[in-house]
Amino acid sequence: MRIVNDFQLHFSKLKDNLELLMHLLTPGPVPIPDFVQEALGQSVIPHRSAQFEAFYANILDGLRYLFQTKQTVCTMASSGTGGVEAAMYSLFKPGDRVLVLDNGKFSGRWATYVNVLGLELIYLKKSWGEIATPKEVLAAMEEGGKVKGVVLTHCETSTGAYLDLEEISYLLKQKHPETLIVVDGIASIGATPFYFDAWGIDCAVVASQKALMNPAGVVAIALSEGSTATLRATDPGDYQNLYNYVQWAEKRNYPFTPPYSLLSGLLAVLNHYQEKTLPVIWNQVHQSAQYFRQRLKSLKGNSFTPYLSDSMTAFQFEGRDPESIRSQLEAQGFWLSGGQGPLKGQILRISHMGLADQVAMEACCDALAEILSKN
Ligand SMILES: Cc1ncc(COP(=O)(O)O)c(C=O)c1O
Repeated sequence: MRIVNDFQLHFSKLKDNLELLMHLLTPGPVPIPDFVQEALGQSVIPHRSAQFEAFYANILDGLRYLFQTKQTVCTMASSGTGGVEAAMYSLFKPGDRVLVLDNGKFSGRWATYVNVLGLELIYLKKSWGEIATPKEVLAAMEEGGKVKGVVLTHCETSTGAYLDLEEISYLLKQKHPETLIVVDGIASIGATPFYFDAWGIDCAVVASQKALMNPAGVVAIALSEGSTATLRATDPGDYQNLYNYVQWAEKRNYPFTPPYSLLSGLLAVLNHYQEKTLPVIWNQVHQSAQYFRQRLKSLKGNSFTPYLSDSMTAFQFEGRDPESIRSQLEAQGFWLSGGQGPLKGQILRISHMGLADQVAMEACCDALAEILSKN
């Protein structure tokens, strides 16, 4: 087995008594580097303390860099779903009209949640792997009355489809400056270019278990002035309302008992990103994606969608069973994801984030080539 990372050798081992290195290449969760593992293991400190406030101030600074914003940022203990739901719960009230772009499993979830919240859904549905064009988004905005918000998924992880957020956001802001643009950036922020302020985004959510190279359990959220003003003052026990997190973030603190260990892991990555700089990180992800797609082509494989995000690739080989390939890869020490929902049993999905770099892709593609050459 080759060492798959120049950054560090990541592995979780021992399967059926075999000393097998398992390389986690799923598009979330992703491998956790040693320096994050160390940070996760630090002793816990109490949150109502000056030490915590200094620590949390560093996190908020690091998040402003990550989102590329000078506006409000906060964190919340939750997996990604809870972060986007909290954003929608906090920004919209029953009866508000909200446009959701649905082109896969996760973006479809936000359409369902619009109904849960009693909002009026304006639905722009595309098939999995397709994306809404800016023109279609603008046309959907013209149906009926005022639209309070648009919910977009930057990288739809069920297919790897990438939305041209910059263009859509630019056009939306020109024609509908009051409409809040809410972005599920769970699989994009930290992996591919993202400019919260310059693109005019109002709310964006990222989760710890993707490009932030941590275990799942914490989300970070950025809010524009407009969306911060929309948050309604609420009961201190209203866990899901971002109003509470924003109020406390102003005091460099957190409204409930914070997930200190996870925040320590997050801070380690935020510091690392500030040292390395985001363009370098984005480029590493890009190189990994480019390399993988070249090899995929030479192995006669196809990307599932033409609208490729650098964060990950969904792919298939004509006439070959993806699940069989997946289990053979697993036997060789590589964990990939299969398809979800209607794509179950039809595609494979691989990450290019974090430690899933070009060297990791090379090792995995060598294994793929060997598997494909058999029968
Ligand atoms: C784009 C996107 N949105 C939402 C989610 C849901 O996040 P979680 O499983 O952390 O709740 C995921 C998870 O893979 C995702 O990739």
